[in-house]
Amino acid sequence: MISHKVIEKNSILMLVLTLIVVSIGGLIEISPLFYLESTIEKVKGVRPYSPLELAGRDIYIREGCYNCHSQMIRPLRDEAERYGHYSLAAESMYDHPFQWGSKRTGPDLARVGGRYSDEWHITHLNNPRDVVPESVMPGYPFLAKTPLFIPDIAASLKTNEEVGVPYSEEMIARAKEDLQTQVNPDADDYDGFLERYPKAQVRDFDGNPAMLSEADALIAYLQMLGTLVDFTTYDVDANKR
Ligand code: HEC
Repeated sequence: MISHKVIEKNSILMLVLTLIVVSIGGLIEISPLFYLESTIEKVKGVRPYSPLELAGRDIYIREGCYNCHSQMIRPLRDEAERYGHYSLAAESMYDHPFQWGSKRTGPDLARVGGRYSDEWHITHLNNPRDVVPESVMPGYPFLAKTPLFIPDIAASLKTNEEVGVPYSEEMIARAKEDLQTQVNPDADDYDGFLERYPKAQVRDFDGNPAMLSEADALIAYLQMLGTLVDFTTYDVDANKR
């Protein structure tokens, strides 16, 4: 046994022993994480984005909406009262890249789905001051006028699949049709579409059935945000057991 006196008088020995003790502690903390497949608990209801929602999400990123909007409700009382149940990790598990954001010039959007009508969104995107006179959000009037141009939506799903989003082969193969189906409740494969993407909202979002526009995609995305998990039945503690 090395006595305390020896260690305390020999700084190099003290340093070496300190390092050994600290690294044992570090290993015990870190190594279990290597054996976990995922640190995110799965939550019922969370599913990959439908092709139209995914396209809308791409527009959200392209236009830099994340510069002013977060998508992460923190577990603090005032946030939960304003925005709803705090965000769960699982709710953004299929986001590549995630849209938590770091600045709130505007409100958090994690649960904006269903809060406003499609018409409200169209008016608001066109010119925010038409519905919120003091708004500093820029208008995006071109979205409703621009046809949604996606050269290869299947490739988009495939890319997400490669980084871990569980898109099935059927979902990827049918991506192009599914993109159209979501704006057309009369489409042949309506039921199949809803089976692939439960709770997906199917309608013409921008109020112009003649054209599938960028606004259709963006509003489909906004209207689904935060709507997948049923918080009337979700029990945080039950999920832990
Ligand atoms: C320069 C900052 C800024 C940018 C960029 C911005 N917004 Fe906003 N947004 C705001 C502000 C401020 C508000 C609050 C006033 C209002 O409702 O217009 C807001 C409100 C909203 C709301 C209403 C939220 C609620 O709960 O009332 C939605 C939806 C929204 N923005 C979507 C978007 C989308 C989609 C984009 C990108 C196309 C975007 N915003 C880009 C600043 C911004």
